[in-house]
Amino acid sequence: MEQVSSYIEKNKERFLEELFSLIRIQSVSASTDHKEDMVKMAEALKGMLLKDGADRAEVFPTKGHPIVYGEKIIDDSLPTVLVYGHYDVQPAEPLEQWKSSPFEPEIRDGKIYARGADDDKGQLFIHLKAFEMMVSQNLLPCNIKFMIEGEEEIGSENIATFCSDYRKMLSSDVILVSDTTMISLATPSITSGLRGLSYIQVEVEGPSRDLHSGLYGGAVLNPANVLCEMIASLKDSMGHITIGGFYDDVVVPSDAERQAMALRPFNQQEYMNALDVEALSSEDGFTTLESVGIRPTLDINGIWSGYTGEGAKTIIPSKAYAKISMRLVPDQKAEKIADLAIAHLRKIAPQGVKIRAEYLHGGEAYVSPLDTPEYKAAERAYEDVLGHKPIPVRSGGSIPIISTFERILGVKSILMGFGLESDAIHSPNENFPLDNLFGGIKTALLYYRYYSEMKKG
Ligand code: BES
Ligand code: MN
Ligand code: MN
Repeated sequence: MEQVSSYIEKNKERFLEELFSLIRIQSVSASTDHKEDMVKMAEALKGMLLKDGADRAEVFPTKGHPIVYGEKIIDDSLPTVLVYGHYDVQPAEPLEQWKSSPFEPEIRDGKIYARGADDDKGQLFIHLKAFEMMVSQNLLPCNIKFMIEGEEEIGSENIATFCSDYRKMLSSDVILVSDTTMISLATPSITSGLRGLSYIQVEVEGPSRDLHSGLYGGAVLNPANVLCEMIASLKDSMGHITIGGFYDDVVVPSDAERQAMALRPFNQQEYMNALDVEALSSEDGFTTLESVGIRPTLDINGIWSGYTGEGAKTIIPSKAYAKISMRLVPDQKAEKIADLAIAHLRKIAPQGVKIRAEYLHGGEAYVSPLDTPEYKAAERAYEDVLGHKPIPVRSGGSIPIISTFERILGVKSILMGFGLESDAIHSPNENFPLDNLFGGIKTALLYYRYYSEMKKG
């Protein structure tokens, strides 16, 4: 541990400069304007992997953004850890709400502020530097592979094919992912589950053009009104989703599991304060934590129609649109849920409007077993660095590709998150505390050590 701490201490400034150089590349996967930046980013990571000690690193083009692969194989009889991360980031907008420029990282109050500082450049960087240190200090106890994609934030469309095409190259004993949160450094936790996601877009079309809302108002179905009524009816007053069949495959955790979940320290008032809200709304019969951790839900992510510019314009819009996400739990299937939702919307649509709807992307939920060497090694590593045994927490977020890895590669993932909920990922002023970054490097390094020891028996 001494050796590790002093290595980090000595190299701190260089580590930060390297991370900043990654953050400065505007790898926004959603926007075609940044297509070149995605390639630049992939090349930068390849260079870093080689410099850090990989025997091999390659950029694999896909139909979308490239995937970076790197490896160091020291001994075929040792276990192999496959690190997964993503180099793409969410768009930085709204720019005016950032205190410093999103792609020019700045350290304030011990935190790095920038888009991607946490999600996922900062967290991925933890593994790059743990790897560098293990190679340079002769501490590498296992084989390591890296698979870093550029499409996580837009649905990981091309990595499943990559996994099927390169199954052998990607073979491993465990997949290690740092792309989630922990409760705090004082109360460490490990993500033991992720929700799935089914994302759809709906269009309601009424008259073939916008109409004068006085001449026609009251006589013609307004697609915006119709869409609002339809969506409003998707949840009843108890917070239950009304789509037929929606809950059919939901696995309800046992009372014992729910009691264990409730042991996690949680302060409802602080939670509300942090969000600037005065009330919460959970599904009837479930706590706030259960509502995000073990229950599915449905939310409008965007909704638009008609005139939204300055002042007033009196029209009945011709069309109305919404983007809807449904967060899923085991054993719901993303495409089945999208089909059910779309069929339901068609069924409840009044005569006189046309409905178009499509499934955009998604994936299944993931649950991590807690009684395996893969998980126990993580538990030990966190406890050693942070002084407390980490609590397993089922997160409400999604990394849909994790369940796909299990299906295609046949390997379970360990979700060793180092982010905090206050890191504001996807929001303006995203940040990542330096303590989490450097503590993460130590924890990751111990993970490789303990896992390799435990695997040997
Ligand atoms: N890293 C997040 C997911 C996450 C964050 C899980 C914190 C648990 C705790 C990931 O980059 C993400 O944003 N995922 C998307 C899904 C994707 C298909 C757009 C999400 O959860 O909305
Ligand atoms: Mn992420
Ligand atoms: Mn994200």
